[in-house]
Amino acid sequence: MTGMDMEAPVLALVGFAREHFSADAQDRSNMSLKLDHCLRVFQEAETITTRECLPPNTTRRSLWAALFHDVGRFPQYAAHKTFDDRKSTDHGRLGVRTLKRRCLLKPLNEQDRKAVLTAVILHNKRFLPSSLPDWAAVPARVVRDADKLDIFQVVLNHLRPGSRTNPVVTMGLRDDPGVCTDALVSQILAGKQGDYARMRTLNDFRLLLCSWVYDLNFSASRQAVQERGYLNELLDELPDLPIIRRVRETVLSALKQR
Ligand SMILES: [Fe+2]
Repeated sequence: MTGMDMEAPVLALVGFAREHFSADAQDRSNMSLKLDHCLRVFQEAETITTRECLPPNTTRRSLWAALFHDVGRFPQYAAHKTFDDRKSTDHGRLGVRTLKRRCLLKPLNEQDRKAVLTAVILHNKRFLPSSLPDWAAVPARVVRDADKLDIFQVVLNHLRPGSRTNPVVTMGLRDDPGVCTDALVSQILAGKQGDYARMRTLNDFRLLLCSWVYDLNFSASRQAVQERGYLNELLDELPDLPIIRRVRETVLSALKQR
């Protein structure tokens, strides 16, 4: 525990999310999954800030940003009935507009507010700009790691053999157990993050998640991936091919390094 009192912002997020819950049971369940995700990412951020012994200013910014990182998801889904940014709107940007419009960051000082808004707008971008100063970059890195730690878990729950796939989670990708897209395999072997636009099958999604190991910022995050066995669980579902064995060696060694 960080000892920071986060009860008021947690209640504010839950209240805001519930305002957007729809009457339709399926829609409500999709939105409530997203609210649960926000709360778990907040907990993941708490673990990272604690294990990394981050100072109080950084911790406060990180926790607020983690809690509100997906606040844009609720108005997004209410308006468009999808979490797909390509078919609706950039939910990071919408999150910033929402936080400002609803004054949800009012209890924070100016510098904290700027750091939180920066982390929210950047949480869903492929890279952080290298010019970002540390007071904003460190919370943004915490949020990105915490978000990934929870998404590993969510996607694994949905990709387990025999589990019912929810197209909102698996993004409509087809289940083709023997097929991995070459371009994604090459990106991973080259130590690069996979490109969402190249995904065609569920195996590609597994590969993309494996490639996130290159984009974890804190050793506490790599430690969590290691302890929970996320990579092995993803890799075990991929076809038994020599090239996939190379992928396994590459990502597992990346997890141990740095
Ligand atoms: Fe997000």
